[in-house]
Amino acid sequence: MTLRDIADRAGVRVGAAAPIGTLRADETYRSVLVREFNAMTPENETKWLGLQPSPGEWHWDDADYMVDLADEHGMQVRGHTLVWPHAGIPDHVRDATDAHQLRSWMTHHIQTTLDHFRGRIPRWDVVNEPMHWGEGRLAEGSFLDLLGPGYIAEAFTIAHEADPGIELWLNETHADVLGGKLPELRRIVEEMLDADVPLHGIGLQTHCLYPDFSPNLPTGEHLNGIVQTFADYGLDVAITEMDMLTDPEQPDRLEAQGALYEELVDAALQVDGCREITFWGFTDGVTWINEIFSPDRAPLLLDADYEPKPAYDAIERALQRRAERFTTGPS
Ligand code: G3I
Repeated sequence: MTLRDIADRAGVRVGAAAPIGTLRADETYRSVLVREFNAMTPENETKWLGLQPSPGEWHWDDADYMVDLADEHGMQVRGHTLVWPHAGIPDHVRDATDAHQLRSWMTHHIQTTLDHFRGRIPRWDVVNEPMHWGEGRLAEGSFLDLLGPGYIAEAFTIAHEADPGIELWLNETHADVLGGKLPELRRIVEEMLDADVPLHGIGLQTHCLYPDFSPNLPTGEHLNGIVQTFADYGLDVAITEMDMLTDPEQPDRLEAQGALYEELVDAALQVDGCREITFWGFTDGVTWINEIFSPDRAPLLLDADYEPKPAYDAIERALQRRAERFTTGPS
């Protein structure tokens, strides 16, 4: 039984991010992705920089290839991401100096993108990481500087008008491990809901980058509380970008990694409103971690030869528990 078989029985999505280069070039990578996952996030190909690197210059081929592949294999695609205020955007957007011009670019980018993928991508991360990576405050940059904090609501409204049939998500990182980020995320969400902004889901990235990029490891109890907090607003919640650094010096590191994966995924899936767990990759051979950290941090479910690690078995068990609860009804 594969992860996606169990996820299908549980009525949830189990997804992985993938980069186009490997997907096109490596038949094994492609076949493992479509065998194990019922959802996919293009790692870079549906970002503004990937789709429209300069004004009016559209690159659809890579994203279309991924959406077609997903469609052929009954997988759902998470569009990632229409607006990311501090990365994944072209230089002219990052360096914009005119509010009217930036608003016009944002509107056109969202409308054209959603028009192109109409009926093929059911949910989008409309805004990714509105906050500073390490602090509980809005990220500086052209969007905040020129359009003010209201650019977030504006992006959602434009997206909803462009395609009222899709789910619109806000995606954020490190709300689980950095104290100041959770209250700020709640404030943003409450403000949007109070103003009737069309917001449907909260993506919690859940990159576990301890100790390099975060001061502590998340715990299941804490993550469960966060997921429940956003579900209580009536929103869908998803784990959208999970991966986990290991310490090459630690002898039992893969077992420890598996145990924490299981604790966290269990904790998220205990909340009925959480119906997606997506990993930021699936094999230790292909991951942004290898480039940004070092190639020996083994962050994912399969090793570089596609052999299942303890983390894979852990996710299998967590999905199984959700499937059992799904068939017997919520407690
Ligand atoms: O496409 C160019 C290529 O032409 C060039 O030769 C190469 C040389 O460096 O760079 C390529 O672009 C890189 C791109 O990934 C595609 O590989 C960029 O430099 C690099 O910055 C970019 O990094 C991505 C990063 O987001 C920024 O967009 C990572 O692959 C991707 O894993 C990472 O994903 C983010 C999520 O979107 C949001 N949450 C955090 C997560 C991890 O940082």
